[in-house]
Amino acid sequence: MKNIKLNTEFTIYASKESLEKDVQELFKAAEKARKNAYAPYSKFLVGAALKLENGEVVTGSNQENAAYPSGLCAERTIIYYAGAQFPNQKILKMTISAGLQGKVLDRPIPPCGACRQALVEYEKRQNAPIKLYFMGTEGQVAYSKSVENIL
Ligand code: THU
Repeated sequence: MKNIKLNTEFTIYASKESLEKDVQELFKAAEKARKNAYAPYSKFLVGAALKLENGEVVTGSNQENAAYPSGLCAERTIIYYAGAQFPNQKILKMTISAGLQGKVLDRPIPPCGACRQALVEYEKRQNAPIKLYFMGTEGQVAYSKSVENIL
């Protein structure tokens, strides 16, 4: 018999101003995308942005539907778009900005379980990690070196 221990490690930054310039820019793109979230049912608005190897940035937001499971999270919206439009470009990093409509949210919100599962498959496909940065509408940012790390 042997025990297997799995570790998950996050880095917490006091604010996005402590991050590299390109990640700050990617957060700006995610925040802008959050404004296009369609979330009349949950009122939980999420914007996400990813950067490809060729420098291209893909952004998106959650899109809900009265048939709730037919909606899609921001993270899957953009990863599927990137897969459809740029199948040969590695995804380097992703920023996620989440908030409840009209409210301040000052803690980082990680991707849901289904998104982690979907994203990790793209990591396997490209054989390289996707760096994840996530936050609320303000405050701390959490960083994970890969999706696998949080699955
Ligand atoms: N949502 C996301 O877009 N990303 C997440 O990581 C968590 C949840 C969306 C799905 C749904 O539209 C709303 O937030 C509430 O769950």
